[in-house]
Amino acid sequence: MQINRNFLSLKENYLFATVGAKFTAYRKAHPEKNVIKLSIGDVTRPLAPSVIAAMHRAVEDLAHAGTFKGYGPDQYCYGYEALLDSLKGSYARKGVKLSSGEIFISDGAKSDLGNILDLFSKENTVLVPDPVYPVYVDTNVMAGRQVLFADATEANGFLPLPDESVKADIIYLCSPNNPTGAAYDRAQLKAWVDYANKLGAIILYDAAYEYFIEDPALARSIFEIEGARDCAIEICSFSKTAGFTGVRCGYTVIPDTLEREGVLLNRLWARRQATKFNGASYISQMGASVVFSEQGEREIAENIRYYRGNAAIIADCLGKLDLRYTGGKNSPYIWMKCPRGMKSWEFFDYLLENANVVGTPGSGFGRNGEGYFRLTAFATEENTREACRRITELLDHHE
Ligand code: MLT
Repeated sequence: MQINRNFLSLKENYLFATVGAKFTAYRKAHPEKNVIKLSIGDVTRPLAPSVIAAMHRAVEDLAHAGTFKGYGPDQYCYGYEALLDSLKGSYARKGVKLSSGEIFISDGAKSDLGNILDLFSKENTVLVPDPVYPVYVDTNVMAGRQVLFADATEANGFLPLPDESVKADIIYLCSPNNPTGAAYDRAQLKAWVDYANKLGAIILYDAAYEYFIEDPALARSIFEIEGARDCAIEICSFSKTAGFTGVRCGYTVIPDTLEREGVLLNRLWARRQATKFNGASYISQMGASVVFSEQGEREIAENIRYYRGNAAIIADCLGKLDLRYTGGKNSPYIWMKCPRGMKSWEFFDYLLENANVVGTPGSGFGRNGEGYFRLTAFATEENTREACRRITELLDHHE
């Protein structure tokens, strides 16, 4: 018997598990301290009232024989039509026409970002921006795939563009980006789409933060870009859009004409999901199905406004301290340069111990993240203000 030894090439713990363990250990050692978390991108606003009402109705359905639901409809890999229709409507408002069979409902983007790799040979070369959401790298390392990195640095505004000398088969893009908060405009995305089509590569496009986009020059879906249907798979989630981090519901879009080696990837994924997945729960799907209704959108916009307000508070605080940062606009993440040349984990400890604020060390997102630090706008406004007050006090007084 042999284990999958690729796991031994991973860092011992998932980034957010390491941060979480440090937070817990500090709290245990200092129970009297009020530690504020601006680390993992977990939401704090309650679900929208229309979502709650839809979920209550779904529970009621499950309580009666006449409306009870077991497994979801297998025609669309367990996605309910109400949700698929609402997603088609939301995409149509971005100018993207989809059929129900092109949308696969999931329990969130993270699972699909890893699971989608089942479709691709281990021999493929993967191109990942650095720094980046660690799931892209870790899942490929687990599979033993070769990973190349595209440098995202201050010099390119943390938005690497294709390098014609690099031959990639699978390309991950995340825009607005986790962790840097930088977002590609349409012309930049077009460059990636053209590059992928030229190489015959597949773009795995993580759109989890699309709802934070305010600037109309930025695309909210890769499928807004001409040529994307020939090379892209889009993976998205209700987690950040509608506060579903605990509810769990997401979706993956695979155009029904997208093929490689004469095989339709949509059909391969349907086959994979039918075998390894039994769908997101009826209750989650019914909650998600009203997110893009008129009332749902209005309520969700209110929550997004709240988080944007937090991002502005953090940006203002860093600006006043003369610290360099990106993000915070079109994104819930603020990517700051650590003060006084500190390394990422050094600043993590410094901030935790002296301001009782937890963030995420940039080096956890890749080599280029060293010396940077990520803060999130997803805390409560009260905690965000208090964290900024403490950061200001600490960094102002210790310059
Ligand atoms: C993050 O903090 O990067 C995200 O919350 C992680 C995730 O969405 O899984």
